[in-house]
Amino acid sequence: MKIAICGKGGVGKSTISSFVINELASQGRRVLAVDADPSPHLARLLGFAPEEVPEPVAEMRELLQERTERQGAFYNMNPRVSDLPEKFLVKKGNISLMVLGAIQQGGAGCACAENAVLRNLLNTLLLSPDEDIVLDMEAGVEHLGRGTIAATDHIVVVVQPYRGSIETASKIRNLAEDLGIKSLHVVANNIQGSDDLEFIESESGIKPIAAFPASSEVRSAERKGIPIYETGTEFRKAAAKLIAKLEEIDVRS
Ligand SMILES: Nc1ncnc2c1ncn2[C@@H]1O[C@H](COP(=O)(O)OP(=O)(O)OP(=O)(O)O)[C@@H](O)[C@H]1O
Ligand SMILES: [Mg+2]
Repeated sequence: MKIAICGKGGVGKSTISSFVINELASQGRRVLAVDADPSPHLARLLGFAPEEVPEPVAEMRELLQERTERQGAFYNMNPRVSDLPEKFLVKKGNISLMVLGAIQQGGAGCACAENAVLRNLLNTLLLSPDEDIVLDMEAGVEHLGRGTIAATDHIVVVVQPYRGSIETASKIRNLAEDLGIKSLHVVANNIQGSDDLEFIESESGIKPIAAFPASSEVRSAERKGIPIYETGTEFRKAAAKLIAKLEEIDVRS
């Protein structure tokens, strides 16, 4: 199962990603965690020590340029990437982590060539048949324009019970539709009661497939800098439910 976790800034994408990743791993599955945030911190949430964490691939400018074989304005649109995962993965039990970093928007002085390497790398990873992949995406909607998540099986949009996060979710849904992505789901976070869930459902028009509670354990683990999966039983249950729902959808489709 290949999942991209998206949503407005600060809604809990990385927190929920880390629980989903750990839950999949605890079910004995091999999981590749991809941190695609420009300021990555999934590694910390997953309990990797700072010295274990590789540099974001997106920041390896020399390597990216070498792979694009750029000649003046021309570059190789299909650069070689097959050896890169081995170089950039760190492993712990069933979990491998790659820190991708942000895929830049093309523009003046165009980063298109480097982006071609990153996109190819991501697409190559997404083709691997025997591994679950969880992408912790950058906040907002920009990355949808780059089409980097079109190859995932499911887009999970995290929302909290406030209008701003639901507005971002609607934009993500519209862009995903334009990209032809069929499996998009809403997950509620920071839920304090049934009225929060009702608010999300009535405002977004979508029933969340799982709900993560407002959790003092999660908040406190984050402050202490300890791997949050070791806390938060309710969170673990919600992650298990989310995975089960996505699997049900996989079986039906
Ligand atoms: N359900 C929750 N209960 C308590 N605290 C939470 C909950 N969900 C997230 N948090 C806290 O909110 C903060 C933001 O969460 P997180 O980093 O997961 O969001 P994000 O969407 O990945 O943010 P960014 O857009 O910056 O990447 C963190 O301090 C996290 O511990
Ligand atoms: Mg994050």
